[in-house]
Amino acid sequence: MSLADLLKEYGKSDYYPLHMPGHKRRLSGELPEEVVGMDITEIDGFDNLHQAEGILKEMQAYASRLYGADETFYLVNGSTCGILSAVSAAVSEGGHILMARNCHKSVYHACYLRKLKISYLYPQVMESYDICEPITCEQVQHALEQEKDIDAVLIVSPTYEGRITDVNSIARVVHEKGIPLIVDEAHGAHLGFWEGFEENSCRQGADLVIHSVHKTLPAMTQTALLHVNGSLIDRNQLKRFLHIYQSSSPSYVLMAGIENALRQVDEKGKDLFGNFIHNWNRMCRDLSTMKNLCILKPEKKQDIGKLLVSVKKTGLSGQQLYDMLLQEYHLQLEMATSTYVLAMFTVSDSVEGYERMTKALLEIDKKVTQEDVGRSDDVLGKEAWHRVEFTEKHESISFYKAWDMENEYCRLSLCQGRTAGEFINLYPPGIPMIVPGERIDQDLICQISDCLQKGLSVQGVRQVDGDIYLSVLSSQEICGR
Ligand SMILES: Cc1ncc(COP(=O)(O)O)c(C=O)c1O
Repeated sequence: MSLADLLKEYGKSDYYPLHMPGHKRRLSGELPEEVVGMDITEIDGFDNLHQAEGILKEMQAYASRLYGADETFYLVNGSTCGILSAVSAAVSEGGHILMARNCHKSVYHACYLRKLKISYLYPQVMESYDICEPITCEQVQHALEQEKDIDAVLIVSPTYEGRITDVNSIARVVHEKGIPLIVDEAHGAHLGFWEGFEENSCRQGADLVIHSVHKTLPAMTQTALLHVNGSLIDRNQLKRFLHIYQSSSPSYVLMAGIENALRQVDEKGKDLFGNFIHNWNRMCRDLSTMKNLCILKPEKKQDIGKLLVSVKKTGLSGQQLYDMLLQEYHLQLEMATSTYVLAMFTVSDSVEGYERMTKALLEIDKKVTQEDVGRSDDVLGKEAWHRVEFTEKHESISFYKAWDMENEYCRLSLCQGRTAGEFINLYPPGIPMIVPGERIDQDLICQISDCLQKGLSVQGVRQVDGDIYLSVLSSQEICGR
């Protein structure tokens, strides 16, 4: 019997709850009664995630078998807590990590907590779409030859935009050095479930793999998995960090949701993925006829489900296209940058969703023909646009030290040469344009004002009375470091 069935059955029983949670499975307020009816804590017969010996142990073993992992842990605090635990277990305090620059902020947070020295792998930029390419095996090999004391390597695949890395070759190179490979596969929980997908990274030799079940499978927000393979990771350490970073009251509704999602793709995957691929291919075929908007074409290195629409050949900005789709067509996308928008599709999308998106983009494509095409470069200066996230930065002070140092706010135009005291990033996806401890240059200053002018959401800046300020380390702190 699944955990969801067990919870539903228990909810109908006459066991009276003299324990948490406080709603006592009765007072649901504005929530549907079914939600609180299933929401229990670690009571008799329901096991304990922090020492799984019963049903939760079986559910985790089921997930391991599905993904081909040695051991799998359910996560109820998202991939975030899996990443914190994975990095903390793989690298001792003060150690050295080699990581892709385009990592999610949780990786940086793990480095801060473990006081790590960081060496970066800067992804190549695909100029035609302004997105980062996957990290290559050659890049990893080269970096490992330069830096002899690396303790672990971390890459992200698929990236937020859906670029897929050759994990297999990278795992081989990393293992030749006797160190572990961590793959942030938060966007790849669906990988391996259909013959057209790449294999998931557990089956490609990675030692630690993190999946957000909630991103690409039919599961609720915060649900995720951490898989561990081989002997390079100390399992006791890993469990210790999971105890630290996971809630001591993991939600049974969320855990039932993970099992439910995995059972759906395992048992009904052929139909679910068959329909998904059919609808996806049809939409991509129709959208490939667009004259002005441009989709990133499906290919082996591009994950299915991430629809990236470039506005580079039009006079629109990504944010304008995003706003049109939202306001005129009621289509809520995942994100916008200056030059593209990103929409996500999964097995759960309806035919209606594909049709509405296709119709909207085809209509907008026609509209921009008449109004905007040809004005793009002079109006928006897009040729000058390049993403500073992916250009190498000068580090003045280690990130983990800099983040704790005294800082002050400095007017954006006066920041050149100062050292950043705070992360600055577009959100989503939250990949840093600059990391505390790095020197601020003119390119960054230009791009921040450009992003703000285009209405993009820039985190880490302060705006007061129309002026923009950045957090920088106070000069005194730098002199005295
Ligand atoms: C690449 C990547 N890794 C990790 C995370 C964190 O995942 P979660 O939201 O499940 O904690 C995200 C979130 O967007 C992400 O994009």
